[in-house]
Amino acid sequence: AIDIGKLRDLTGYITLDSGYKNTGATQSSITFLDGEKGVLRYRGYSIEDLAEKATFLEVAYLLIYGELPTTEQYAHFENEIRTHTLVNEDMRKIFEGFPVNAHPMGVISSLVSAMSAFYPDSYDSKQPDATNLHIVRLLAKLPTIATWSFKKSQGHPVNYPNNALDYCSNFLHMMFALPVDKYEVDPAVSKALNKLLILHADHEQNCSTSTVRLVGSSQANLYTSISAGIGALWGPLHGGANQEVIEMLEDIKADGGDTQKYIDMAKDKNSGFRLFGFGHRVYKNFDPRAKIIKKAADDVLGKLGVNDPVLDIAKRLEKAALEDEYFIKRKLYPNVDFYSGIIYRALGIPTNMFTVMFAIGRLPGWIAQWQEMRENKEPIGRPRQIYTGPVQRDFVAINDRK
Ligand code: ACO
Repeated sequence: AIDIGKLRDLTGYITLDSGYKNTGATQSSITFLDGEKGVLRYRGYSIEDLAEKATFLEVAYLLIYGELPTTEQYAHFENEIRTHTLVNEDMRKIFEGFPVNAHPMGVISSLVSAMSAFYPDSYDSKQPDATNLHIVRLLAKLPTIATWSFKKSQGHPVNYPNNALDYCSNFLHMMFALPVDKYEVDPAVSKALNKLLILHADHEQNCSTSTVRLVGSSQANLYTSISAGIGALWGPLHGGANQEVIEMLEDIKADGGDTQKYIDMAKDKNSGFRLFGFGHRVYKNFDPRAKIIKKAADDVLGKLGVNDPVLDIAKRLEKAALEDEYFIKRKLYPNVDFYSGIIYRALGIPTNMFTVMFAIGRLPGWIAQWQEMRENKEPIGRPRQIYTGPVQRDFVAINDRK
């Protein structure tokens, strides 16, 4: 029989930290974040520099392989990705089964998970290690899969990738080209997309990344781990907030533009309402990504000649919140999701695709973190608990239960 007292002696005390507010789960050399000062760096490079000067694929390479690529390494990496942008036609058959109004996040997470079935070497330990090929496949195919949902919602045929184009332009081509018209990618749109994807590329041990690492810690394959991360990202408290923000701003507009009313509602704990795009688990100062995106929103809308009244509402809402004692006391600032949706909308991307854009951006970070966890041979993730249920009870036969 088990000696409970002895077992307790052996297991010792358990740390309870719901939501892991102050518990480090790993050591990592990928992303540095100082939430008090508002600093974010990928592999030591500042987010401001990377967003201004790098391409998304350079940043993906940096996160995954640890260094910025040389010209030759970049050409090789980009070429590998171009080679894999097509998606198996049998995956199309799975896709055809989704209803036309299926949320694209549900679709991409299912199809990424299905990729493990199409590439069984991803889970068969007897086969030679093909991790790098799986990494390239994911980076290459996720944009293709993502655009399918949009095309279907429009009732349009899907576009095949145009591998003469760079990563961002190819995505825009698959989203917006029609068989009847010649579609030219606007360089301003492609540049804006490049910046947004870089800003989303990694953010250390956030909810979706921790999910990817936790699933992968059981040695589950890369596709399944990433699919789980997409699911975690979908939630409105995480990546799903970008869709919620624009819907909230639209509601405020339809309601006459009274931002104070919504601030008051967010302060009222009984309302069940939160100001989406505000607050962050780690940033107790301006989210540096939000600063860059706010400026980019002005630039992009100006360049494209888009006048979106929602941008004005967002700025008024931000100003009012930053002057409000409730938000000051709790150090609640705009986060990455507050302005990103306004830019996506100006680029022609529909609201239900916003979180998908986040997923495309975050993919290199998830991959890098999954790989680091594997290379460091981390043990299976398995949190403990404090049991609060009944003490031992005697079984009662079904007919004797009250
Ligand atoms: N509106 C109103 N009050 C808020 C908000 C908000 N957006 N965010 C936090 N608060 C309040 C909380 O009610 C709590 O108040 P209390 O101390 O009086 O109880 C206090 O600020 C601390 O908030 P917590 O929820 O405990 O903080 P936590 O770190 O658990 O949550 C989170 C962080 C989930 C981001 C939260 O700020 C939130 O829900 N924000 C809105 C959703 C959002 O924008 N999510 C995107 C985050 S960025 C990303 O994932 C990419």
